[in-house]
Amino acid sequence: MSCFSCYVSRRKKDVSRVEVDNGSRSASTAGNGGTNATERKKECFSEAKGKNARNGQSSTPAASFGFRELAAATRGFKEANLIGEGGFGRVYKGRLSTGEVVAVKQLSHDGRQGFQEFVTEVLMLSLLHHSNLVKLIGYCTDGDQRLLVYEYMPMGSLEDHLFDLTQDKEPLSWSSRMKIAVGAARGLEYLHCKADPPVIYRDLKSANILLDNDFNPKLSDFGLAKLGPVGDNTHVSTRVMGTYGYCAPEYAMSGKLTLKSDIYSFGVVLLELITGRRAIDSSKRPGEQNLVSWSRPYFSDRRKFVHMADPLLQGLFPVRCLHQAIAITAMCLQEQPKFRPLIGDIVVALEYLASQNIPETHRHGVRSPQLQSPSKMDRN
Ligand SMILES: Nc1ncnc2c1ncn2[C@@H]1O[C@H](COP(=O)(O)OP(=O)(O)OP(=O)(O)O)[C@@H](O)[C@H]1O
Ligand SMILES: [Mg+2]
Repeated sequence: MSCFSCYVSRRKKDVSRVEVDNGSRSASTAGNGGTNATERKKECFSEAKGKNARNGQSSTPAASFGFRELAAATRGFKEANLIGEGGFGRVYKGRLSTGEVVAVKQLSHDGRQGFQEFVTEVLMLSLLHHSNLVKLIGYCTDGDQRLLVYEYMPMGSLEDHLFDLTQDKEPLSWSSRMKIAVGAARGLEYLHCKADPPVIYRDLKSANILLDNDFNPKLSDFGLAKLGPVGDNTHVSTRVMGTYGYCAPEYAMSGKLTLKSDIYSFGVVLLELITGRRAIDSSKRPGEQNLVSWSRPYFSDRRKFVHMADPLLQGLFPVRCLHQAIAITAMCLQEQPKFRPLIGDIVVALEYLASQNIPETHRHGVRSPQLQSPSKMDRN
């Protein structure tokens, strides 16, 4: 987005996380409509009591590991065990002495911000427990080493399954995409509605949605998450941190962070799921590099909706569901935060879309016998 006056890339990879220092931290009031979702939020708060057991996650505290233990688990941080790398550092697959398979993230020694993110990540994931949030198993603070130990997510990130697919990967079917959207929305609903005080995630993107063997999604990376707003406040002011292409425009420009900033980022992820295009893709021609800008002209004409769909779907989706998914996405991407929906309403709408029985193109790499040609699909 052009609204960033300056940004500092923390990434070794192509996608840039941005940091713009815009001064003081404060809290103040702004509009936040939506009666239906407000009611749901009240329900959420009452449900929150005794929540962790029902969320399918135990709230076992994160364990403290010694560096030697984690070096042994990853066989000396062997290159062969390297499963990814982000702005924070490298991620290795490992096996603890208990036999548990884990992902070990090692903070690279290149700045203080990473250390702050480390502390926030440990605090947040020690307090937050939900089946759609990745589980923090432990951490290591030996000497100047900072490592995080997570449950291992065997299918990697959503980003790995949407873009630049290698030959061994099947494109995600429409129903898998809807399932992932619902799970990610439920994770966000937990942060916004069930956590008390609410948590603004601030780093929602396809690289931070990790997948288990059944493509159940879990949100990861809470190093940028912020508590609040509380009481009558609807925003906190803070330095602008996030990932280029996913940040809400008002947050990028003013540093005013609200729950609606996350809704905008969620809209960008929905758009990636629908189109199979990256939020920012510098390999595309000018005008197509920023996904949200590219999509705006399509939003205003329903007849063009079908042209937004990822070509890898090969037309195998119910057109009515596609239309509804695009309508939800467009609402999330409203320029004005007050017009964006609350997460509770998004969960309800996506659950409905995900419940629509449609033929699967691929299930575990096997073609479904019910497969219909695109012309036979629902075209309402
Ligand atoms: N718990 C995990 N289980 C399996 N793979 C993981 C896990 N955590 C991270 N990874 C892999 O490591 C990659 C890098 O993750 P990481 O969170 O460090 O960076 P990122 O989210 O891609 O970018 P950044 O942190 O700079 O915003 C992920 O894309 C994913 O493939
Ligand atoms: Mg990440």
